[in-house]
This record gives sequence, C-alpha cells and structure tokens, in this order.
Amino acid sequence: MSRAKVFITRRLPNIDLARLHQIAEVETWEEKQPPPYSILLDKVKQIDGLLCLLTDAIDKQIIETATSLKVISQMAVGYDNIDVATATARGIPVGNTPGVLTNATADLTWALLMAAARRIVEAEKFVRAGQWQTWEPTLLLGADLNGSTLGIVGFGRIGQAVARRAQGFDMKILYYSRHRKELALERSLGLEYAELSTLLSESDFVTLHASLSAETSHLINDRAFELMKSSAILINTARGGIVDPSALERALKNNQIAGAALDVTDPEPIPLDSPLLKLDNVIITPHIGSASYQTRAKMAQMAVDNLIAGLEAKRLPNCVNYEVYH
Ligand code: NAP
Ligand code: GLV
Repeated sequence: MSRAKVFITRRLPNIDLARLHQIAEVETWEEKQPPPYSILLDKVKQIDGLLCLLTDAIDKQIIETATSLKVISQMAVGYDNIDVATATARGIPVGNTPGVLTNATADLTWALLMAAARRIVEAEKFVRAGQWQTWEPTLLLGADLNGSTLGIVGFGRIGQAVARRAQGFDMKILYYSRHRKELALERSLGLEYAELSTLLSESDFVTLHASLSAETSHLINDRAFELMKSSAILINTARGGIVDPSALERALKNNQIAGAALDVTDPEPIPLDSPLLKLDNVIITPHIGSASYQTRAKMAQMAVDNLIAGLEAKRLPNCVNYEVYH
C-alpha cells in the first residue's frame, strides 16, 4: 500500500516529526514566505494531509482540487482562512489548536493595553532620540487603569483570560458576546454583560476577542467609533478584519478615540505606506499573540497530532467541524 502524502506549508518550531515520518511522506515548504496560491493549488492535488497556517488561503478551489485530502490541520486557533463549509461538505475534518495559546495571547493583549495606556513605545523612542532632558510634570502623560472600565468584545477563552488578568487592576469589566455567559462566571469574574453599543460608549479600553466571520467583519466601524469615548483606547489581538481600517484611521485622525494597539491588521502585513504607521498613538505588533517558545511548540504538537489522527482515520483531538463524523 502506498504511504500517505503530507504537505506542511512552513517549517514548524521545535517539533519531533518522527511519528509522522513513520506513516507518511512529508514535504515541508522551507521558504520564509507562505507558498504562493498557485503552488499550494498544485501541491494539494496529490496529498492526503495538509498542515497549514493562518496565512494560507484554504478556499473552495484548493479544497475541491485536493481530491485525496483526508485532513486539514491548522496551526492556529482561528480558522477564518479556511472554507470549513466546503471541507465539511467533502467530509474533510479541519483541526485547530485551541487553549494552548490562550494565556500567551491574553498576556500580549495586556502588554499592548498597558503600553498604549502609558505610552511606552513613544516614551522609549523619546529616550533613544536624546529628548530626555529632565523630569517634567507633564511629560508623556497617559491613562490610569485603576478605576477605569474595560470592555471585552467576544467572551471566549482569550476574552475570559483577559478578564482574569483585569482582576488585579481594579477595573470595572463589561463584556459583550454572541451568547451571554452563566451568572456564576459573571459573578466569579466580577463582570457585567452589556450590549455592544453600551460597552462601546462606557469603556475606557475596548479589547476585541471575537472570531472573524461574516457577522463580526467590520463590527468596529464608523458607527462604533462614534459611540466610543474620545479618551478610549482600542486593542485588537483577534483579527484585523473585525475593524474597518478606514474607519479606524478616521477615528484616530479626528480624535474620536485616543489610541489603538493592534497585533492584527487588515491586510497583513500592514503596508508600509499605511497612514496608521504615521500616527504616534498607534502601536502595531506583527501578529505575535501566541509567539512564546513554549506556546508555539504546543501548537505545533497539537497540529501534528490532529494531522496524524486524520491520516489514520481517527477523530481529530481538536476539530472545528465534528459534524463530518455524523
Ligand atoms: P473562542 O474561545 O472561540 O472565542 C471566540 C469568541 O468569539 C466566542 O466566545 C464567541 O462568542 C465570540 N463571537 C463569535 N461571533 C461573535 C459575534 N458575532 N459577536 C460577538 N461575539 C462573537 O476563541 P479564542 O481561543 O478565544 O480565540 C479568539 C480569536 O482570537 C481567534 O478566533 C483568533 O482569531 C484570535 N487569536 C489571535 C491570536 C494572535 O496571535 N493575535 C492568537 C490566538 C487567537 P460566544 O462564546 O458568546 O458564542
Ligand atoms: C492566531 O492568530 C491564531 O488564531 O492562533
């Protein structure tokens, strides 16, 4: 019997692929940039298993071209780059890596929130530019966290981990999500459910943690910015597409909000001529929410475990379309 064929779209961090090599012929795309779409389209014609990243567009055409594909395993929790409906229609399970990156991403969210509140990036540039002459009463003033209101949009694993971190900062916490959570959870975290419009108008910090879908695309738009306080800071470590980038630019230029800290943009990478990169009150990091050594190693292991399960026709340990098994 011929061995299964697998394509991995980028070299994985710190992982032993011995077990995978025992059961499959493995080809890894070794370049720094993702495989171009035309190459991916060609590669999938022959394969049984695909291990991909959020930078790969696994659309209808790719999935329908991959006639022998038995599993799609994504090394990320978000999977908005994959046409899951088409995969499901073809009986292909799609795996992802939830949970192991929750704390790392919540930590990064918190780092961005604090950096924006206290203007850390501006302050650091100020020192390096030789502008630090003396202690000044009005130098680089920022916002207090203590006593302020944090608004969390999307209350899943990461949203909740962000709320847990807020406990130590004596903040009022509002959350908005597709489904209101149990009272016991709300009470244990000391938070209140609010409609999105209320959350936007009452929060000093608005942090986004919803998954990207047709429903959440441009959820934060001109109307949302109109509702926000002029002193508010927007943090986005979820997906760039949740925010309308033109509306964000207008809101920052017109002082409708005070600042933004973004780990994700639309598009990614952000073009160097983006007006956002010219603004001092915007911090942008290159989608590094889960980028710790330990977390990335766990994500890679989970992705390989999902891949192997799919090749062996077993249920994926973490699957986003379990309905393929019914
Ligand atoms: P999760 O547990 O599935 O949480 C996603 C939340 O989004 C769910 O709680 C869901 O609400 C909410 N949601 C979905 N549609 C919504 C809508 N229309 N309105 C309001 N809320 C909605 O996922 P997670 O593990 O927390 O990850 C969240 C997202 O973070 C991922 O999808 C990914 O895009 C992003 N992420 C980014 C990084 C990074 O490197 N920056 C790292 C990890 C994850 P309900 O529970 O109420 O249904
Ligand atoms: C990263 O953005 C992820 O979805 O894991």
